[in-house]
Amino acid sequence: MALPSSRKVTKVVIPVAGMGTRFLPATKALPKELLPVVSKPIIHHIIEEAVKAGLETVVLVTSRPKVVIEDYFDPGDLTSYRLAESHKEKLIEEVLYLSSKIDIVSIRQYKPMGLGHAILRAKPIVEGQPFAVILGDDIMKCSGPSAIHQCLNVFQERGEGSVVGAVQVEREATRLYGVIDPAPSIEDIKKGSWRLKDFVEKPDPAEAPSEWALPGRYVFEPEILEELQNAGPGKNGEIQLTDSMQKLQARKPFWACALEGERFDTGDRLGYIMANVAYALEEESTHHALRTWLSRQLAR
Ligand code: G1P
Repeated sequence: MALPSSRKVTKVVIPVAGMGTRFLPATKALPKELLPVVSKPIIHHIIEEAVKAGLETVVLVTSRPKVVIEDYFDPGDLTSYRLAESHKEKLIEEVLYLSSKIDIVSIRQYKPMGLGHAILRAKPIVEGQPFAVILGDDIMKCSGPSAIHQCLNVFQERGEGSVVGAVQVEREATRLYGVIDPAPSIEDIKKGSWRLKDFVEKPDPAEAPSEWALPGRYVFEPEILEELQNAGPGKNGEIQLTDSMQKLQARKPFWACALEGERFDTGDRLGYIMANVAYALEEESTHHALRTWLSRQLAR
């Protein structure tokens, strides 16, 4: 069935302006988005997720030290003659594939004024149409449809409103995330999505309305930009995306999509190491040796 044109989503906004202070000194001269998870940078995994969902335009909201992220996807650097001579093309095939599937547009966020402000910077490119957002801290490893694809499916099924991806976390971890109110019923989980009443940004775990957190996957109706435009500073004096989502939620539905897949918080050191181990255990070239080494380490 053809989609109503007003529900067709082709663009994804990916904010990459953040300084990556949690990974200093590694991020002193290299954007955190280019740190590798096995052989591919974090941003490669994120854009792969978008491409798997059929999204066509990636809007990077960048800051000054982040121009190299665009270079990473520039085929000009990748088709170099020496690679061809030494038969190493295979190594870069996947980047060339991604570059051929998407257009990358970038816009600057001159000052770190919060996630809401970063999304609002994309307004000239996404205005008047629904759009997806992926935050790069969490990598979602999915055997079925990619995480943002799952959200887009709910966006089409529901026919009205915006969608957020949701994952269940330990109660203690709710302090790190936007948290959903209410928790889903068993029926909701079976259906895969449910209607929300509210969001709470980084609650005290004892007061969190549920253990369902936002890992940074959203599909918004265009009205979110109006709310962001009118938003004043929230927590930490920054324009918070969650505040504008709360406002929009008062007049348009919001749905949570229970994401199927394994989540790695690569913005956190332990999560980053776990992601590397998980992906390396899946690669043919590293699987056996790594398993043997890990079991020896654990037996010590
Ligand atoms: C942001 C959002 C939060 C979300 C999180 C996911 O927080 O404000 O709602 O759960 O990203 O990574 P940040 O991690 O930027 O502080």
